[in-house]
Amino acid sequence: MLKHKHYYAILATKMGEAANTTMVDAARAVLDANQREQWTVPSPKLYPHQWLWDSCFIAIGLRHYDTARAKQELLSLLRGQWQNGMIPHITLTPNDEHWANADFWQSGRSKYAPNTPTSGLTQPPVLATAALLVSEKLDGANQRIFLKQMFPALLAYHSWLYTDRDPGQTGLVALIHPWECGLDNTPYWDMALHHFSPLWVGAFLKLGFGKFINNYRKDTQAVPQKQRLTTVEALKFAALAFNLRKHGYDASLCLKHNRFAVEDVSYNSILAAANKDLGKIADIIAEPIPTDLAFRFQTTNKALELLWDSNDGLYYSRSFHNKEPLRVATVASLLPLYSGVISKERADVLVRHLINKQSFWPAFPVPSVATNDSHYTSDRYWQGPTWINMNWLLYHGLKNYGYDELAESLRQTVFRLVNNSSFHEYFSALDGSGYGIDQFSWTAALSIDLFYTGAGATNGGTRSGVFTNNQPSNQTTNTQ
Ligand code: DGY
Repeated sequence: MLKHKHYYAILATKMGEAANTTMVDAARAVLDANQREQWTVPSPKLYPHQWLWDSCFIAIGLRHYDTARAKQELLSLLRGQWQNGMIPHITLTPNDEHWANADFWQSGRSKYAPNTPTSGLTQPPVLATAALLVSEKLDGANQRIFLKQMFPALLAYHSWLYTDRDPGQTGLVALIHPWECGLDNTPYWDMALHHFSPLWVGAFLKLGFGKFINNYRKDTQAVPQKQRLTTVEALKFAALAFNLRKHGYDASLCLKHNRFAVEDVSYNSILAAANKDLGKIADIIAEPIPTDLAFRFQTTNKALELLWDSNDGLYYSRSFHNKEPLRVATVASLLPLYSGVISKERADVLVRHLINKQSFWPAFPVPSVATNDSHYTSDRYWQGPTWINMNWLLYHGLKNYGYDELAESLRQTVFRLVNNSSFHEYFSALDGSGYGIDQFSWTAALSIDLFYTGAGATNGGTRSGVFTNNQPSNQTTNTQ
């Protein structure tokens, strides 16, 4: 009997490996189809420009089989960098008919904008991490050449984040639009924008123009409307972008005149990790991080603690202006694990939340909003579905604190999702159905990365059969 079990286990492993090898080929085909000039678009239909954190995740996948393209993916982001150091969330493809085009953004209203048209906002700062990970695939001399190319831009970017977005020197960088955190319509940003209701948006809706707008929304032509932003959210987001545009994307004006800035827990967690990686890059190329900037990095590590809510045992984003926490249990609350700078004690509390089947560990974790939270919606964008980039961040977050088996379980979840439902933008956390656009670049790229990076990397990165029925092993006890 035991012998049979052994053979079945080997067979299951082999079948898992074969499935995942095919998955890698299919993922590479997605990245090939989405390649444009020197970079890769997230999705030709829905996102036809170059996005900042998308390209970082894409390069992290590409590095396993095409280092030249991975380097180029990151270097091409620098063509959009502003003179003040900001790296914009979108570097636009001129003349594209996408709604978020040069006319919409009018980046030239800022004296710092480059000639290349871009958006006027930024996105999560994964770039230093992506540069370091790509560089690890290069030999010594080539690694240093590439990192030397990236370093000045990275230094300028991180300095800008602190000078422009942390005027009070709290250590927490403030965001001025939900697009900057990347979790767009996550419920806590909805709370932050509660009082932002421009008259024209209200009038539009009262006059029943909502339906009319939907005819022009390209996203809802490509994806069912209930999986995207609501009309109100879409109008508010556009109105807020116009408002920032009016201020020439000047952060001090925006922070002074608008009451909607957020000290975002996901963003600052990613920043803390990226600061560390920038330090590692500096060591490799023997360049210093200026002392005042290194000091600011330390303040972020400590400041994450300001977002801790001891009643709920979770981290929450908070308002930049009144420092009130925005209390909703979202995946962002768990991302301090990824920062690697919180204490083991805090990490253990977060992991207890993560493995709770009633909230963050349904059949296909990790939902973007806890399934038992009143804001949870199974199929709407960042209001419930599972996203592969969040699982990638949490995979590394779990590794940071020694939760290797749980990390492996999350990695296997990614393979189950993409093997069953292809490279969708996001997935049902309850039954794994694919939502949003298909053939989405970062889903493909991060699946490739997890395939090569995982625990059993020598046998193709799979350890099928280690977990049955998606249960975390006895490394953790799910008692809730
Ligand atoms: C967005 O829309 O925020 C994305 O980064 C594009 O994938």
